[in-house]
Amino acid sequence: MLTSQKHLFNLDPGVHYLNNAYRGPQLKSSEEAGIASIIQQRNPIQLKPTDFFEGVDSVRKLFGQLVNCESSDVAVIPSTSYGFSSVLTNLKPKARGKAIVVQDEFPSGYFSIARWAKENQATIETIAPDSTSASKGESWNSALLEAIDEKTSVVLISSIHWMSGVKYDLEAIGAKCQKMGAVFIVDGTQSVGAMPIDVKACQIDALICATYKWLLGPYSLSLAYIGEKFHNGIPLEESWMNRVNARDFGRLSEYEAEYISGAARYTVGEAANFVLMPMLKASLMQILKWTPSAIQKYSSSLNLPLIDFISRIGGQTEPEPYLAEHLFAPLLPKNINTADLKQELEANQIYVSTRGEYLRVSINVFNEKEDISALMHVIEQHL
Ligand SMILES: Cc1ncc(COP(=O)(O)O)c(C=O)c1O
Repeated sequence: MLTSQKHLFNLDPGVHYLNNAYRGPQLKSSEEAGIASIIQQRNPIQLKPTDFFEGVDSVRKLFGQLVNCESSDVAVIPSTSYGFSSVLTNLKPKARGKAIVVQDEFPSGYFSIARWAKENQATIETIAPDSTSASKGESWNSALLEAIDEKTSVVLISSIHWMSGVKYDLEAIGAKCQKMGAVFIVDGTQSVGAMPIDVKACQIDALICATYKWLLGPYSLSLAYIGEKFHNGIPLEESWMNRVNARDFGRLSEYEAEYISGAARYTVGEAANFVLMPMLKASLMQILKWTPSAIQKYSSSLNLPLIDFISRIGGQTEPEPYLAEHLFAPLLPKNINTADLKQELEANQIYVSTRGEYLRVSINVFNEKEDISALMHVIEQHL
């Protein structure tokens, strides 16, 4: 079982950072890689033609290992919105078809679907959980499965809900999508890195992840698994780097029409980003060393006392099996004002997010049981 990995980060002493879902802290190894790259940029004579490709190649390979795909199925993109648009631009609608999203989906996904639906005369069906049920997950998942039918062109959901952490049964949803001929797009930003995912087992057509949260990467980089259905699509832009002759600098103006095979055609221009790419590479290497399943187990060992505590004070957390161990949002007792509580927590250097009446707590390998005790202590005092 993993033990605390706090020594691998540069967090301020005394800070209880339970907000990885907002922004993951930087690993020392990632920071060092970034600094080394900045220094290397002092002198361009050190920049080799292969540097334009090797960093991206390594990152694509490492991400492939994390989500179970070939590196040729991975594109490097700047943001999740870019990834959704890349895929949706190439999605043909069914006649009088529909797109499915979940209630309160993250705006980048929602707006991308909304534009696609408008441009393709499709309707949007928004699936909500049964708000009266103790388990949102159960009702939400069954409503989702029921909604996917032969009229469904596309389902776009997050792997876990970004506000509450409720898990979706991606295997069952993927299987239903394939059966109904619908494309399955998943926003993995709030779980990939901290929770295992297998794009093949879940029959996902596109998995889009910002890297600055659970992949512990830099801001402005995202990664996308884009499956076979889109391998002949048209990318949003025409980067010279995505052509079959790109690595032969002497032949660039022979204007090769053919894109590199697989998902690489969707990689954003100037993806090589000599400073950020080595940082992301270092983070991915570390995550693969820890493994996402070990991160879930470690988070579970820390969140158990908190879940007990929440139920003792009359609050609620999502029960198994729909509870993500690394991100969850307890519903607090009615007499707690979440905005006031958040202020009090911050005064005690405890950082979480509030999402409506929920307190979103996120846990990663740099957290320790003292972080959870400090959180429970302030909530108790507040009560
Ligand atoms: C589920 C989810 N997707 C995506 C993002 C970031 O989106 P973008 O890369 O489009 O800025 C966030 C940020 O909080 C998120 O929680």
